[in-house]
Amino acid sequence: MKRIVILLSGRGSNMQAVVEFCANERWPACVAAVVSNRPDASGLAWAAERGIATEVVDHKLYREREAFDAALARVIDVHRPDLVVLAGFMRILGRTFVQHYEGRMLNVHPSLLPAFAGLHTHRRAIEAGCKLAGATVHFVTPDLDHGPIVAQAAVPVLPGDDEQALAERVLLAEHRMLPLAVGWFVHGRLSVRQGVVTQIDGEPQFIS
Ligand code: GAR
Repeated sequence: MKRIVILLSGRGSNMQAVVEFCANERWPACVAAVVSNRPDASGLAWAAERGIATEVVDHKLYREREAFDAALARVIDVHRPDLVVLAGFMRILGRTFVQHYEGRMLNVHPSLLPAFAGLHTHRRAIEAGCKLAGATVHFVTPDLDHGPIVAQAAVPVLPGDDEQALAERVLLAEHRMLPLAVGWFVHGRLSVRQGVVTQIDGEPQFIS
């Protein structure tokens, strides 16, 4: 039984998608805990109602990034994760933290990486006149929003889209892609060689 710990900072709709796929598809896995840097993250209440352990490590209580990272890792490691999933986790994590979870930490980012790393991805895609936008699931490396790409989902940018309309369209794709990627990891279906991730059964690693 693989143990998954999910980190979030807000609503947690991607976390919900993973929890539901894990149960409905009877993965040999469980979501052992949901951890947030924000005490008011609404995703925490959703998880707690389903009997999932929840934890808060409030970043505002730490002056140094390293101290926050260390406290976060301590809380996570109590739950002995095989996989850590960043699902809308909005803090930058330091090198020591990232290296501690190397090869067992996935992030979902709302752009087609390597385009638009960082914040405000939808606004930047619209402003750049992009006709396609999307999201990426990748293994986390110390460079922000970089790392071996597990899956990508593309959606159109439609005339008249504002940031919110595009974000909603991308989010629906994230809800299909993130559980797919986590399921592959849980079932041992991913191989990483020279920074390139292959789904070893040849399943498509893109969603459109
Ligand atoms: C998602 O769109 C996710 O890709 C994004 O935050 C949203 C969280 O929504 N993550 C990032 O921007 C990380 N850089 P959710 O809380 O409903 O899952």
